[in-house]
Amino acid sequence: MALPLNTNIKISLLSLKHFQKLKMFHVEHFANHKFSNQSIKAFLSLDHYKTFGALTNDSQLIGYIVFTLAVDEADIVFLGIHTQFRRQGLGSKLLNVPCGTFSISKTSLEVSAQNVAAINMYRKNGFKVTSIRRGYFSNETDALNMIRYY
Ligand SMILES: CC(C)(COP(=O)(O)OP(=O)(O)OC[C@H]1O[C@@H](n2cnc3c(N)ncnc32)[C@H](O)[C@@H]1OP(=O)(O)O)[C@@H](O)C(=O)NCCC(=O)NCCS
Repeated sequence: MALPLNTNIKISLLSLKHFQKLKMFHVEHFANHKFSNQSIKAFLSLDHYKTFGALTNDSQLIGYIVFTLAVDEADIVFLGIHTQFRRQGLGSKLLNVPCGTFSISKTSLEVSAQNVAAINMYRKNGFKVTSIRRGYFSNETDALNMIRYY
């Protein structure tokens, strides 16, 4: 069941102190997209990764985005929203964190060609498909390379 999104959602940069919270959140909501503990720690601590979370008043994590930042280009590693808070604009809000927070000229990403929800969200936010990578993912599905320039 969808839950109404409180307007007081805070988008904050996450750090290693959020490791357990982020890990539990990811395991609970994105079981088919596995990350090792080492990867999650890297997202939260290495300089070139930026991880922002959407937090409720009572500090519940309900979405997050990880991207890399190199000079003026961002590349999205993962973006996910709590299953009960989807379709209320939060994914789009997090998607706009890189360009809203840093001075960048381009954001890129790879998304499974089967992930209709994500592809629609990216298109709605100005991303365009620039190439297709056949059999890119481990289960042989294709990936769409999508880019937005600013
Ligand atoms: C993809 C995802 C991040 C979208 O988050 P969200 O908060 O629901 O997205 P938004 O509310 O900003 O949706 C924006 C638009 O995307 C499209 N969209 C979102 N979910 C959709 C769905 N289930 N089916 C079709 N279109 C969808 C719609 O066009 C929507 O606009 P609308 O609601 O006005 O029609 C979310 O479904 C999710 O966490 N999925 C699992 C993780 C994932 O696949 N991440 C992306 C790959 S890294």
